[in-house]
Amino acid sequence: MPDRPALHSAPFSDDRYRAATAAAADPAAFWMSAARNTTWTDAPTVAWEENSSGLADWFPDGTLNTSFNALDRHVDAGLGDCRALVYVSPVTGIERVYSYRELLDEVRRAAGALADLGVERGDTVLLYLPMIPEAAITMLACARLGAIHAVVFGGFGSAELAARIDDAQPKVILTATGGLEPGHVVPYLPLLDAALEEAAATVEHIGVVERPAVPAPVGRRPMPNEHDWSTIVANAAPADCVTVHSADPLYILYTSGTTGPPKGIVRDNGGHAVALQWSMQSVYGIGPGDVVFAASDLGWVVGHSYIVYAPLLRGATTVLFEGKPVGTPDAGAFWDVIGRYGVNVLLTAPTAIRAIRREDPLAAQLARRDLRSLRGIFLAGERLDPDTQQWLSEVQPAPVINNWWQTETGWPTVSNFLGLSYLPPKPGSSTKPVPGFTVDVLDPDGTPVPPGHEGAICLRLPLPPGCLIGVWGDDQRARKSYLDFRAGYYASGDSGYLDADGYLYVLGRADDVMNVAGHRMSSGQIETALAEHPGVSECAVVGVHDDLKGQRPHAIVVPEIDHLDRVDELRSELQALVRQRVGPIASLGGVDVVETLPKTRSGKIVRRCLRQILDGESPDVPPTIENAVVIEDLVRTLSPVDRNLVRE
Ligand code: COA
Ligand code: AMP
Repeated sequence: MPDRPALHSAPFSDDRYRAATAAAADPAAFWMSAARNTTWTDAPTVAWEENSSGLADWFPDGTLNTSFNALDRHVDAGLGDCRALVYVSPVTGIERVYSYRELLDEVRRAAGALADLGVERGDTVLLYLPMIPEAAITMLACARLGAIHAVVFGGFGSAELAARIDDAQPKVILTATGGLEPGHVVPYLPLLDAALEEAAATVEHIGVVERPAVPAPVGRRPMPNEHDWSTIVANAAPADCVTVHSADPLYILYTSGTTGPPKGIVRDNGGHAVALQWSMQSVYGIGPGDVVFAASDLGWVVGHSYIVYAPLLRGATTVLFEGKPVGTPDAGAFWDVIGRYGVNVLLTAPTAIRAIRREDPLAAQLARRDLRSLRGIFLAGERLDPDTQQWLSEVQPAPVINNWWQTETGWPTVSNFLGLSYLPPKPGSSTKPVPGFTVDVLDPDGTPVPPGHEGAICLRLPLPPGCLIGVWGDDQRARKSYLDFRAGYYASGDSGYLDADGYLYVLGRADDVMNVAGHRMSSGQIETALAEHPGVSECAVVGVHDDLKGQRPHAIVVPEIDHLDRVDELRSELQALVRQRVGPIASLGGVDVVETLPKTRSGKIVRRCLRQILDGESPDVPPTIENAVVIEDLVRTLSPVDRNLVRE
């Protein structure tokens, strides 16, 4: 029987949470026991060992297939007719329910199609797709063959796509003619063509999903190695599962640091399967037959973990939603799906709830739906402001759970629990560490700070299963990015504090990474695009507070002399350049033109001060500043950004 959540109105007891935390203090025994939730070809006898990146390879002598665990074994157990995936697409008007048997059939044929294109165990396949079933099916098809998928979010532009193609070196790319956004179509093929022209990597085959609503651009000649995906799938023989080692990569998912190219976070097969199932049960309170609605995109970690893998590994039903919280058609879209499909948990980003509230402050749309199936709403990906948490708690009765995690960790690190004890929530806090994670807040020297003091949020090693096992193609980058801060710790890059009861409060990034509508973006990636413009001498991009999206990228630009008399044109050209190169999700909230940027003596731009000035705060000027007078000038000349006004 699945675990049922405690009602949030029931008296609080932390017994089950404390018992699980105590048991997880012996990680080897705890996770070897949890590993019984997975069907292994060779059951593991060793819990974990350190790998060449300094991270943990879990269950190193175990072998399995993730796709078998997500599909075949449920069909073998007689659940073939149960609902596996529900595709709800308000942008096309299509809804389709796939049973486990049907989804298995589709995945076997998609795996056969990939095999026909020469994909084998260990090859990489890049997916640049909208939220259509083919995306989830191909992810599982890669897993079936032991191939490694790298999904690239459809809102990224050509430069971002090219960087990922060059890093992942895919044998095959699967894309679609385009995506459907509220009120407009986003053609993918021109972006892919531009990315392939820019990338150095050679891609053997390109599969294209032809969407009836998005015809290929008129006159575009298909590449010589381009195939209609539905035709090759129709002609393919179903493929069987290939057994892989537990620590073999299942996927690469790119994420941003402050600067440098995106980091390809590598996830394994065995640890991932074990951890995600454990999380479904213990964090989310989800069992076989329950319904999970992760309203995110497959291009992000929430989509990988909680649209595709975790619900299917657990034998639950997952909703794949091709739409937005508002505008497809209105602010009732999420509530409508929950009511009609009996959703038990909703996962989304706080921005989505802020967007719904802005459009429907009295929650009239929600009141019209039957939400009795809903046991909890999990919000992650960015800071959950207490005001939004309170509003959502007032307009519906399910617990609203702020949970903190990252692409790197793959599943919640700090949360409240529907499958263990439901702990008394505190506004502004993500509650307590998930059993298996030990969270410490450290000062810049790596010493733990007392409760209530802000510092770097770090996780003690070894990380539990399901977390990153490395950075694609670069063992040293994982060490440098995450492990060098203090021996024995993973540094999350976030800043925050623990209170005296052990509750975590995440305050923001310790570096210059931005969070725009729950999407992590680096200053560096947008600055690289701006620097391509001949009119830009120097530039900095910072994330400025935005009431809806949390933050918005904002550019501060020093123009070349010959562009000084055309700064208005420069601003709009820079807007367009960022949209084309990085993608529309990185659209600049504003562009300020200045004479000089503030720098440290070693030449680093002091982005933090720029952000503070634009947020209307007094800048925290570092002692290493080269040109303090520039900051004083900027305080006079840069006006704080109107939180919702887009300045071009
Ligand atoms: N493919 C192509 N384009 C995309 C895209 C995709 N998958 N996703 C977004 N875009 C485009 C949008 O069409 C928009 O383009 P436009 O500027 O030409 O209109 C641009 O990128 C910005 O999109 P978005 O950030 O979604 O802003 P929005 O103003 O269109 O919508 C919200 C606002 C609040 C509805 C939207 O940000 C949202 O749904 N947020 C929830 C966040 C979320 O789920 N995050 C996942 C992490 S858990
Ligand atoms: P991503 O890797 O894109 O999922 O982004 C992870 C980042 O989002 C974290 O490092 C945090 O900065 C932020 N984040 C995620 N969840 C929360 C949360 N509950 N509260 C505050 N910030 C969060």
